[in-house]
Amino acid sequence: MKNISVAIDGPAGAGKSTVAKKVAKKMDLLYIDTGAMYRAITFLVLQEGIAIDDEQKIINIAKNTTFDFSKDGSEIFVNGENRSKEIRTPMVSENVSFVSQIGALRTVLVNAQQKLADNHDVIMDGRDIGTHVLPKADLKVFLTASVEERATRRFEELSRQNKAGSVTFEAVKKNIIQRDTIDSNREQAPLVKAEDAVEIDTTTLTTNEVVDRIISLIRKIHR
Ligand code: DC
Repeated sequence: MKNISVAIDGPAGAGKSTVAKKVAKKMDLLYIDTGAMYRAITFLVLQEGIAIDDEQKIINIAKNTTFDFSKDGSEIFVNGENRSKEIRTPMVSENVSFVSQIGALRTVLVNAQQKLADNHDVIMDGRDIGTHVLPKADLKVFLTASVEERATRRFEELSRQNKAGSVTFEAVKKNIIQRDTIDSNREQAPLVKAEDAVEIDTTTLTTNEVVDRIISLIRKIHR
């Protein structure tokens, strides 16, 4: 039987990964966080002191990097090492949108993402899943929320995990606005709602309300 594929796209902080993880658990799908893959490459680029516009070196890194996810998708192993914490630092967040603009890097990562979807029932989140990675996904969801709400969620998440450090709410908001602008305006696979995606504005919804809506949409297509 054909594998199930669910695409979740939307801007930074819209709640994609929180919601996708819960849906994955309830519906027994593999959750793939594609943002974590772009973050992992950015982390390696910074760690190795490579300039973020050195396309050739960055593409070489991507070609030689392996990605594995824990069953619930919350941990990412990059070349066998757990890098789940390192990929969420402000330094990586500040640089990831620049690195993600490189077309040839996207080709390498999109191929890896498509291979994962070929072999599993997946729910995949990112910016270009419904438009480029899984254009034939069984269900496409585009999650949005106001900038204020998205910044609040990110800041609270960082504070809860004691990762905010000296980062202020204003700095988190600025990073989100900057990433929205770059992600939506880049030439290669920009962040845009697929024509056949269902848009859900999560500004005033709880996580569970969004999860329930997505599950009922999955049940509708899989009757
Ligand atoms: O989902 P996230 O905020 O962790 O993603 C980090 C960055 O990675 C995001 O600002 C843009 C890039 N990205 C992308 O270009 N394409 C994807 N499918 C996922 C993320």
